[in-house]
Amino acid sequence: MKIKLLKYLVCPECKSHFEITVQKREGEEVMEGELLCNSCDKTFPIRRGIPRILMGQDYHLKKETQKNFAFSWKKFSSIYEDERDFLDWIYPKNKEFFKNKIVLDAGCGTGKHASFASQFGAKEVIAFDLSDSVEVAFDINRQLDNVHIIQTDIYYLPFKEDFDYVYCIGVLQHLPDPEKGFYNLSKLLRKKGWISIWVYGYEGTTFVRKFIDPIRKHLTSKMPPSLVLALSFFPATIFYLLAKGLYKPLSKFKPTTKILKFMPMSSYIVYISQFNFLHIFNSVFDQLIAPITKYFCKEDIEEWFKKANLKNIKISNRNNMSWRATGQNF
Ligand SMILES: C[S@@+](CC[C@H](N)C(=O)[O-])C[C@H]1O[C@@H](n2cnc3c(N)ncnc32)[C@H](O)[C@@H]1O
Repeated sequence: MKIKLLKYLVCPECKSHFEITVQKREGEEVMEGELLCNSCDKTFPIRRGIPRILMGQDYHLKKETQKNFAFSWKKFSSIYEDERDFLDWIYPKNKEFFKNKIVLDAGCGTGKHASFASQFGAKEVIAFDLSDSVEVAFDINRQLDNVHIIQTDIYYLPFKEDFDYVYCIGVLQHLPDPEKGFYNLSKLLRKKGWISIWVYGYEGTTFVRKFIDPIRKHLTSKMPPSLVLALSFFPATIFYLLAKGLYKPLSKFKPTTKILKFMPMSSYIVYISQFNFLHIFNSVFDQLIAPITKYFCKEDIEEWFKKANLKNIKISNRNNMSWRATGQNF
């Protein structure tokens, strides 16, 4: 943890500032130490360079969510080698948008998007996740002076309400109360600050909801992640061959694109056919491992943004299966 992070942090319990005790330092990073709340005396450890600001009750399936995503991101730490997915998820925001902004990456996974935000010119990027994937995120971003990694829970956030931009990609659908998670994030925006989210859509996902989700819910999310990883290899291979060998060629020629309209998930599969096997393997594994998964209608998203008093709301469909949305605080 870099000392300059302190000015963005507050105690999740009483919102007072922290004092820091340093036990071990490596250059700019406090590797071991403690954060002490001036007001309510709560303490949180800094371990392996990361403040672990975890509190609050364990909700149903929280431990499983923590465990399964930590496993996933440790295995697939290198999948986001290029920025295309990230820019597509936060569309219509673009690289230029990040210039000089104070940014929050909510549910950062491997922390690779935080690296992109830093490269795009953000002033400071603070990235958090509930799971131990923060250790991957810390390693990936360690050389970047303006990226900060924290382990914390979206329901008990330790941040000042001072962000120019908050983005949350693929996280809300894995929460027991997604709307509350969204509301907690939107409260952190400065005046004129923006938030972007990406969530699974209800529309266009009948196949996944009817046939894949019951397998996830009743079977694979309860199995040891290493076994699910091994089992995922087979469907991932089929998916990969279909994407590269059938969907992609059909999408290349005008007469054959019409056939795609009758095939399931065609827009999504054509999109992912540009990526390598590891990427597809991770998508399949991720789908099967998540203890909680929810799907949202466009109206749900619109309602969250309106309830949070956000303006300039833009909601767009992604690959006919999911929603990305952005709005501004006034
Ligand atoms: C599908 S992953 C998305 C990760 C990253 N945003 C990305 O796009 O690669 C969902 C992430 O949400 C995190 N998560 C789930 N529940 C959370 C919570 N209550 N607070 C913070 N993060 C949470 C998981 O640990 C996981 O890393």
